[in-house]
Amino acid sequence: MITKDIDKCIAALTNGELVAFPTETVFGLGARSDSPAAVNKIFDIKKRPTDHPLIAHCSRADTALAITPYLSESAIKLAEEFWPGPMTLVFKRAQSDAICNESLGGHDTVAIRVPAHPTAFALLDPCSFFVSAPSANKFGRVSATTAQHVLDEFGNDLLILDGEQSQCGLESTIISCLDEQPRLLRPGAITPQDILRVTGCDVSKNNDDVEISAPGDKESHYAPNIEVILASSENNFDFKPGCESAESAFLSLSPPLNSYKYEMIVSTYDDFAHEIYDFFREAENRDCKAIYVVTPVEEGIGIAINDRLKKAAHTFIEANQ
Ligand code: TXA
Ligand code: MG
Repeated sequence: MITKDIDKCIAALTNGELVAFPTETVFGLGARSDSPAAVNKIFDIKKRPTDHPLIAHCSRADTALAITPYLSESAIKLAEEFWPGPMTLVFKRAQSDAICNESLGGHDTVAIRVPAHPTAFALLDPCSFFVSAPSANKFGRVSATTAQHVLDEFGNDLLILDGEQSQCGLESTIISCLDEQPRLLRPGAITPQDILRVTGCDVSKNNDDVEISAPGDKESHYAPNIEVILASSENNFDFKPGCESAESAFLSLSPPLNSYKYEMIVSTYDDFAHEIYDFFREAENRDCKAIYVVTPVEEGIGIAINDRLKKAAHTFIEANQ
């Protein structure tokens, strides 16, 4: 059920129920972090493996930083610069019951985020607990960037706090702060250049073991039910029988040469990120046979867009082998 009643959502979270809520990245599926029973409901409804840790959310940076005594200088700089915002920091876990083992998936580290969305703030600030929240989608599916996407995914029984389409549209940048040198675990709207500017560290050079470090961030994520085909130019698409352009969807920064069943032309990289998951879902709803995407250049938010595109396309490359 989609609601605008924040007090009802706060009461539900307090009582150990699930609440989906908007953030500026994607919608989250929240439960109070100190309750194993509440957190287990997330894993059940998402069908998510229980060893995939959840991000814990709160309304203020000082509350977030107080979760660990092991703070690096760069972590403090990143928090001061980018919280509230589309960034998650990973810390060594401290002895505390604030975030239960179930939420951490049994790991000895903790991922924390302070979202910038005003509705998320209004929900989280009165809560005396952290709120664990993965993206509000079934495991391995495309993230939700509107309340309607969440409803389509989980049905009317779930309480969904209303809010406009997520502004960024891609999941948060995840940065490991376990060592003095920060490491990029998942690219997002906070780019490697942003991190370099604030910390002096070039995270693009130490990014070889991403898949191991972000246990839930495997290739098969972010995937629509339709084959996704990527190329740096429309001329490079090889239209196979059954996947002709007239039966397929197209996403690009420039108008298409061919005629497609469903076209989305975006004007900036920010728009690309904002629209991509809605485009994937709409292509499914319109029963497109394939999704053709002209990829952005690998810079700025283009790095995060390409990361998600490669993961969306990967499933089918593997499935077809
Ligand atoms: O923008 C976002 O980050 C959204 C909103 C709701 O905050 N959340 C989100 O959560 O994308 P989820 O669960 O879909 O993706 C979180 C990723 C997973 O790949 C998980 O493995 C990783 O973060 N993660 C969580 N805790 C971690 C930890 N302690 N160390 C490393 N990776 C962690
Ligand atoms: Mg997710």
